[in-house]
Amino acid sequence: MGRTYYVTTPIYYVNSEPHVGTAYTTIAADVLARYHRMRGEKTFFLTGSDEHGMKMVRAAKQQGLSPRQLVDRLAPKYKDLWSHLSITNDYFIRTTDPIHEATVQTFFKRLIDKGNIYKGPYRGWYCTPCERYVTATADGKHECPVCNREAEYLEEENYFFRMSGYRDRLLALFEARPDFVRPESRRNEVLNRVREGLEDVSVTRSTFEWGVPMPGDPKHIVWVWFDALINYLSGIGFPHNMDRFQECWPADAHFIAKDILWFHSVIWPCMLMAADIEPPRMIFAHGWWTMNSAKISKSAGNCVYPRDVTEKFGVDPLRYFLMREIPFGGDGDFTHAAFLGRFNNDLGNDLGNLVLRTLTMAEKYFGAVSPKPDTGGPQDQALSETARKIDGMVEECFRNMQFSAALEAIWQLVRAANRYVEECKPWTLAKSQADRPRLATVIYNLLQATRICAVYLNPFMPTVTEEILWQIGYDRPVAPILPGDGAWGGYKGALQLRKGKPLFPRAE
Ligand code: MSP
Repeated sequence: MGRTYYVTTPIYYVNSEPHVGTAYTTIAADVLARYHRMRGEKTFFLTGSDEHGMKMVRAAKQQGLSPRQLVDRLAPKYKDLWSHLSITNDYFIRTTDPIHEATVQTFFKRLIDKGNIYKGPYRGWYCTPCERYVTATADGKHECPVCNREAEYLEEENYFFRMSGYRDRLLALFEARPDFVRPESRRNEVLNRVREGLEDVSVTRSTFEWGVPMPGDPKHIVWVWFDALINYLSGIGFPHNMDRFQECWPADAHFIAKDILWFHSVIWPCMLMAADIEPPRMIFAHGWWTMNSAKISKSAGNCVYPRDVTEKFGVDPLRYFLMREIPFGGDGDFTHAAFLGRFNNDLGNDLGNLVLRTLTMAEKYFGAVSPKPDTGGPQDQALSETARKIDGMVEECFRNMQFSAALEAIWQLVRAANRYVEECKPWTLAKSQADRPRLATVIYNLLQATRICAVYLNPFMPTVTEEILWQIGYDRPVAPILPGDGAWGGYKGALQLRKGKPLFPRAE
């Protein structure tokens, strides 16, 4: 039984429509999942929606709906957007799914049985829009560190999870597995906080009902975060499909943004340890898309909506821009100018131009049938060396979740191929019959360089790359790309070519 590569996104609060920030994590996880599938690995990609809690109750009230009406209205918008953005999640989990609710109860019961839960008074500050506990700052204020709103005071009889007891085991986990939390700066940040100590955490609520009833005391519901984190187990079959669960768990990568790192790198592994379940392999916290340096979010009122971009430019350019513009882990401003620059330069002038000129020449000189290579030339070596390096470079980048660097590596070949055209001057070779064997090699090499670019770009831009592969002679749908498909020399000649329109027509 082979192991399955398992990647997740956070499950998003469905109190409002998805924006470019939520799309970002989902696209990154999709790129990773597609890459592993392309490498021939069994892969499971989970995303979903976080539907319980006070935040949802309030959002529903504001819109004159019941919480159930709100989530039933909005969860499909997420599903629709993901399919529009070519997201290939294997499952979409909703925390209101009965199967998830049952898993939460099973998990919670396990913690009760193991003596990890106790009842006690909770008094403290809480930010409901962010669903997080807030501690006082030095000046005595209770401002949420994420959204800067003033937190509200809560006082109620709750059940607590004995998280404090897991401090040493958690530290040992961080020590033993330097890759547990990435990037490294984030790991150090969490580690320092954990060293200062861990407190028990309140994990139930009794002042409202929109949640999973606590086993044994159904007047309480399970705290929304405790409920939500368990989606990573329920979504792969714990405990109703243990075969699948065992294939997938531990997760290879939980993708999140830095605002929810504590929940994932501290609370979550402690919950798992308490339940005798292995912790995940890696939690990667990326940065924020911002606008004028403010985090893009519904509450800041500065959302960019994916469809506003895709309607004009297509889905793949948005995927490309998000993965290319900022290194995974850092923050970056989403600007129209930056988007246009990438669209016109990288996609239009570099990639689009390579495809169009290659096919135009192949059509003109070889009647739209790809030639077989014949006479070599001094320019071939630089091109083939660049091409041969791609596989290793891309693999290394993906191991480190460096999507932007992977694209840069592929662009070395895109640019090398465009240079090759300038150096070999096929239009001059075409003038003499004696140069025809050399012309055949040049066009063949351009076609195979194009093919290799399309193969490695496929996880990033699935639709455009299929179009490219089709134009250079592959059938539709393009068969799964396999290990070795990116090899130099792997392109078959004598294929029917189908030149198309420019892939990325210049935009202003
Ligand atoms: N429901 C919780 C997560 C529970 S996971 C067990 C939650 N939901 S959320 O809707 O607020 O989504 C937060 C996630 O959305 C972030 O972790 C990040 O993945 C993504 N992003 C939201 N805004 C973003 C940006 N402006 N920039 C980058 N990512 C953004 O937290």
